[in-house]
Amino acid sequence: MAQQQNSSRMILMITIVIAIVLIVVIWPLSMLGKASVKTGSTDEAEARIQPVARLELAKAPAAKSDGKPRDGATVYNSVCMACHASGAAGAPKAGDKAAWAPRIATGTAVLINSVTNGKGAMPPKGGGADLTAAEIKAAVEHLVGLAK
Ligand code: HEC
Repeated sequence: MAQQQNSSRMILMITIVIAIVLIVVIWPLSMLGKASVKTGSTDEAEARIQPVARLELAKAPAAKSDGKPRDGATVYNSVCMACHASGAAGAPKAGDKAAWAPRIATGTAVLINSVTNGKGAMPPKGGGADLTAAEIKAAVEHLVGLAK
């Protein structure tokens, strides 16, 4: 009897170890595969707007982190374009003057605040969790510039 309990405990432990290995090793590896989809492709845009991809998007570094602030175009291309190039999720399309005019009229400070805290379907910082305030401002100015 005691012997039997021991072996079923063994099996349970082995199952738990396998489950942990699966979660700790295989799951992040599969995430890596997804993260390496080519930047700028429509595949990536589609992948990013899926709600499941939201978490990944938030974790994805916007660009190389060499300590230098990224300029507006770089931030836009790596983070904001996923929605603003296509108008995904109801995002005002980059360069669409009619869509941007009423938003630009509220003032840059309001727009920066919307991006920083998130608005509607746009996650805080547009999903670029590592963006600095200066980078957000530059990206907003870049988007505003495209719509002028
Ligand atoms: C997940 C999709 C998505 C991403 C990524 C995204 N946006 Fe947006 N953005 C939206 C949507 C949707 C709206 C419209 C929100 C609303 O008005 O309800 C919006 C609105 C805005 C507005 C107007 C805010 C206002 O107050 O009217 C600005 C400015 C903006 N985005 C800038 C950015 C910048 C800069 C980035 C990158 C750092 C970014 N967005 C990334 C979806 C996105």
